[in-house]
Amino acid sequence: MKMKIISPFRILSGGACAAFLAAQLAVGQSPREHLSLDAGWKFHLGDDWPDALHLENSGTGSGPASERFTDSYWRVVNLPHDWAVELPFDSTADGSHGFKALGRNFPSNSIAWYRRAFELPAGDSGRRIWLAFDGVFRDATVWVNGWCVRHHEGGYYPFREDITDVLHFGGTNTISVRVDATKTEGWFYEGAGIYRHVWLDKTAPVAIAPDGIFARSEFEKNTPQGSPKIAVEVRLLNTTTNATKAAVNCEIISPDGKSLKQISGSEKLERKSLGAVKLESELSAPVLWSPESPKLYKLVTTVSVADKIVDQKETTLGIRTVGFDPASGFLLNGRHYELYGTCNHQDHAGVGAAIPDALQEFRVKKLKEFGCNAIRTSHNPPTPELLDVCDRLGMLVMDESRLMGSDSENMKKWDDQIRRDRNHPCVAIWCIANEQFAVQDTPQAASVASSMQSYVKQLDPTRPVTYASPEDDVFRGINSVIEVRGWNYHYGPRMDKYHAEHPSQPNVGTEQASVVGTRGIYTNDRPRAYVSAYDLVWPGWTTTAESWWSFFAERPWLSGAFVWTGFDYRGEPTPYWWPCINSHFGILDTCGFAKDAFYYYQSWWTTKTVLHLLPHWNWPGREGQEILVQAFSNCKQVELFLNGASLGKQAMKPNSKLSWQVKYAPGTLSAKGFDDAGNAIAETKVETTGDATQLQLTPDRKSINADGEDVAVFTVSAVDAQGRAVPVARNKINFAIEGAGKIIGVGNGDPSCHEPDMFVENVPERGVALNDWRWQLAKVPHNGSAVPEYANDFDDSAWNALNAKTGNGESTIKTENTTAIYRAHLVLTEEDLNGSGAQICFGGCDDEGWYFVNGKFVGESHDWQAQPIFDIKKFVHAGDNVVAVGVNNVAGQGGLNPNVTVKIIGNAGVPPWSRSLFNGLAQIIVQSTRGPGEFKLTASADGLTSATAVLQTQPCAPRPSVP
Ligand code: GAL
Repeated sequence: MKMKIISPFRILSGGACAAFLAAQLAVGQSPREHLSLDAGWKFHLGDDWPDALHLENSGTGSGPASERFTDSYWRVVNLPHDWAVELPFDSTADGSHGFKALGRNFPSNSIAWYRRAFELPAGDSGRRIWLAFDGVFRDATVWVNGWCVRHHEGGYYPFREDITDVLHFGGTNTISVRVDATKTEGWFYEGAGIYRHVWLDKTAPVAIAPDGIFARSEFEKNTPQGSPKIAVEVRLLNTTTNATKAAVNCEIISPDGKSLKQISGSEKLERKSLGAVKLESELSAPVLWSPESPKLYKLVTTVSVADKIVDQKETTLGIRTVGFDPASGFLLNGRHYELYGTCNHQDHAGVGAAIPDALQEFRVKKLKEFGCNAIRTSHNPPTPELLDVCDRLGMLVMDESRLMGSDSENMKKWDDQIRRDRNHPCVAIWCIANEQFAVQDTPQAASVASSMQSYVKQLDPTRPVTYASPEDDVFRGINSVIEVRGWNYHYGPRMDKYHAEHPSQPNVGTEQASVVGTRGIYTNDRPRAYVSAYDLVWPGWTTTAESWWSFFAERPWLSGAFVWTGFDYRGEPTPYWWPCINSHFGILDTCGFAKDAFYYYQSWWTTKTVLHLLPHWNWPGREGQEILVQAFSNCKQVELFLNGASLGKQAMKPNSKLSWQVKYAPGTLSAKGFDDAGNAIAETKVETTGDATQLQLTPDRKSINADGEDVAVFTVSAVDAQGRAVPVARNKINFAIEGAGKIIGVGNGDPSCHEPDMFVENVPERGVALNDWRWQLAKVPHNGSAVPEYANDFDDSAWNALNAKTGNGESTIKTENTTAIYRAHLVLTEEDLNGSGAQICFGGCDDEGWYFVNGKFVGESHDWQAQPIFDIKKFVHAGDNVVAVGVNNVAGQGGLNPNVTVKIIGNAGVPPWSRSLFNGLAQIIVQSTRGPGEFKLTASADGLTSATAVLQTQPCAPRPSVP
């Protein structure tokens, strides 16, 4: 397609502007519809149809790829969905991916199918319809109405397809997706399935191109003084066969909702072409975006053809500058801004990689609690909703690619990532890759890095580029060409040496710390694979929070850094292997419960007064033994007391922590914190508690939206008779829910816990193979009319015998336009009929078939490649049943494929939800249904008083979605 860029810009002033606005908006709603396709997918685990993809002809996908396939008994799932998290843990599975029974050694768990039917109104004819996936892990093949429309491999990249041509307007359409998660991409848990959102976008034939808007603000000298230039590029897609002229109007709306300005231009679009309009304006006295004050402007882009609005789209606009300076480090809005960053993978307790948007928000808020102001999306492009949350709540982002490469496929992915994410003010820097040990020092890697870097400058001149380099003072390969030198890990004076030798290259700590610690554990425990949560170096390549941070804190040129990691994540069970199934690097555990390190960072990364003591004080049997006590605090001095007696006051050096050896006696360990003038400004205590007597349930929010997507995150804890949280409680908790909510996941942060995270609906299934057939050439009506040969009492004993297992094609009809009948018996019990269904599944019928059970017509097929499935519950009875198929061989040779199975489907049941407390805490995630009202969640455990929480679900307009 032709790409033509012009930049006619016109700035409308006051009155003219208002008139233009009124005229535009009076025309009504945007013809664009952006509809969620998340709800109501059918899901089947297992590749029972390995030949579904047909390459010889179009529109001939078979099995679930075919429109005619019956998925009536498949499980219903809503997206985002991660089937890996539903699988059991297995010590023989891939530990770096979290020991889930997935991958090469578990073929039946590693491929799954999703199907979704939707109606398209006849009135949509003439519009363009796009199917968009935000991310599928991984290797997705997509069919629409049997047409294979896309094959997409990368598990972290969005993909979309214009599916208009193959749709039934005014009819039912079927999307089928085969997902193959056998192969992995990273060395950490990656999930499996359609784990991000899916959308159906409807647009006019002339519309804004996908990811077609780029809006940015630019200040002179990249310093926010005076009025910034607002530059907008709008790419337009003309899918029609006529040339046309499109007018573009962009309205800038202030953070408090006032219309500030309109800029407009127009462009002639050739037939079937992509064009662009570039607009510019200035904005006086802008309100700047920052993590502390995340003020967002809005840009409303309206496209008209012949005075009729054909498209309208809103884009978030944040006005701020970012940059890196070799001496002053990271600059936000022209000033040094220390990056208090964390690296994070994209999984959470309970739900794995399928994180609802509200949980993204929960996670970002948790990070902000200890002062984190930046996330590195290690090691892949993020889900777009994470960036939305970061824009809104104020969190900078290092946006990272998955693979480094300048080949066309990789550059296309890089292009998609940059175009999709570049409007987000939270994105401060692009990261081309992480730790490319095999190639990083080579001239080839330098060339690839340069290509990726210069491509960024082409698409996004506003942001710098880095590479997460695991090297010390090495200035070869990628490090020699990269704009901002990234530092994975702490090399002390060698970093100073590098800086002195390369004074013009800015720096950033792309990855630091990797300190391991299990929440609430204070000794290394090999058998249970727990590690002590004191800030200790373990294993070898790590550096304590105190050592890396005190080094960086004194060197603004390093820009701050990203701790490995904010949250614990599944996989990479370091330093121990099985039974450990997740990492311990987090400042927070997999649920977001704070480990002690949280308070170290909160002390030095926030202005809040912090005083935290560790460990807990429940050590029966250790009376009189010394226990290491630490205080994480930003007070100038801290005094420690045991049962009221002072154990000494110590001065706190900036960025450090304090330690005491204390002889254990049960009771109260307490501390007071003092300011410079010696005033007590903080106090805290840990107490020896009694046994747990009662449960508590605490939601993160008081009410949630009744939109079927919002979630409430509950903390379950146990308290003793005096109401004190018991830090060592491990009780098994059972959960029950009533009303307008459903539980979607449970966790407890225990890295060695093998209890299920999810209790999914289980539908028992029994397969009965119909192996013994009789067949004979016979007259067959070409419709559903019966003949005597289909009847149960027909005597077929003189017909040819055929065994599906031992036969070798003797059932073939050898001549064209010839028909035959095939018969088999099926014996069922009363119990078989008490279930929810029975299906008969045929391996194929060449070329046409009419299918009968007990003399009744159940369906027909006219596609030799299809594998027909029919629901037969209403046709069968206990005892002997007869299946008969009339077959017409139209061309070549044909006949019935005798591989036929009857599936007896039992009644679905969801096992009761439960989870043990780990060191006093567990988490339960509840999602709203669309019913406004309330839900009641109950937690109970043997011997403890139960807890009940009632949460309101507020009526709200659900996100526009495909019914
Ligand atoms: C880094 C790597 C991370 C993680 C970490 C564990 O080298 O970039 O992905 O593996 O080590 O310490």
